[in-house]
Amino acid sequence: MKVAVLGAAGGIGQALSLLLKTQLPAGSELALYDVSPVVPGVAVDLSHIPTDVAVSGHGKDDLAEALTGCDIVLIPAGVPRKPGMDRSDLFNINAGIVKNLIEAVADNCPKACIGVITNPVNTTVAIAAEVLKAKGVYDKNKLFGVTTLDVIRSETFIANLKGLKTNEIHVPVIGGHSGTTILPLLSQVDGVSFTDEEVASLTTRIQNAGTEVVEAKAGGGSATLSMGQAAARFCLSLVAAMQGEAVVEYAYVQVDGSDDAAFFAHPVRLGINGVEEILPYGDLSDFEENAKNTMLEGLRGDIKMGVDFVNG
Ligand SMILES: NC(=O)c1ccc[n+]([C@@H]2O[C@H](COP(=O)([O-])OP(=O)(O)OC[C@H]3O[C@@H](n4cnc5c(N)ncnc54)[C@H](O)[C@@H]3O)[C@@H](O)[C@H]2O)c1
Repeated sequence: MKVAVLGAAGGIGQALSLLLKTQLPAGSELALYDVSPVVPGVAVDLSHIPTDVAVSGHGKDDLAEALTGCDIVLIPAGVPRKPGMDRSDLFNINAGIVKNLIEAVADNCPKACIGVITNPVNTTVAIAAEVLKAKGVYDKNKLFGVTTLDVIRSETFIANLKGLKTNEIHVPVIGGHSGTTILPLLSQVDGVSFTDEEVASLTTRIQNAGTEVVEAKAGGGSATLSMGQAAARFCLSLVAAMQGEAVVEYAYVQVDGSDDAAFFAHPVRLGINGVEEILPYGDLSDFEENAKNTMLEGLRGDIKMGVDFVNG
């Protein structure tokens, strides 16, 4: 299994790479790419950890080498938010970065599964799809917006609120990955019930959890450690699925024939070729149905912005 992290010298990239170095199956390769001159040092640093995962560092002229032979490409390259910004404020810089990186993926490892972490995910995934289509290598089953952070935050907040063990809580989170497009389905959390007030306040907290971190870091960036953990969980699930295990994760994927939006986070059954099956997200409560209907137009607009960025 060869996994590349593009943006590996950044806050997310380093945390994610550390987790992959210690948790990928023995015999795997981990290729770290970044435009920052620090990336060879990150690779040397990680290479001293005694696991049977080979680490290589690749600077800005060495992207093709990092990508060649990859099974999975994870992309946290880009600029993070500062206080007062929302994810769409990142669009102007990050859209171009994602476009260029995906072109290189198309040229060097067109069959790889791609996990896009760079915000605004609602839009950057649509950009990636259009670039891959233009290159004639798009496979909708292999392109994911990584929304796992919304899931792990929900699990943590609910476990803390209800005094439960975090590993006993499973929270479906559907929709997109920005503000009200993030829709946790609290009505479907097994074995836990919530008052109407708890549903309203937890939903808002989960939707604004990224801003909680941005404000607490006071200009020093956005979530990196929890995002590293979330992306590692997603990647390791994909690895397990590619090795034949039945795994379900929530991710932002292309959904054909849906009344929601062209891309929407769903439960997906993963397999050796990426998405094996997009599973239905089940019945929504009135609160959730209303929240979904209110946010759909915004999500569709985010997606259109990505399509227009590539196609003019
Ligand atoms: N999907 C999510 O849930 C989620 C959560 C948190 C943050 N994010 C997003 O992840 C991105 C990265 O956040 P961070 O905190 O790690 O930022 P960071 O600034 O710490 O790191 C970003 C890294 O990307 C590198 N980079 C920039 N342009 C590049 C290019 N063209 N090719 C390769 N590398 C490049 C930078 O050199 C830097 O090392 C941001 O867009 C942020 O909004 C997503």
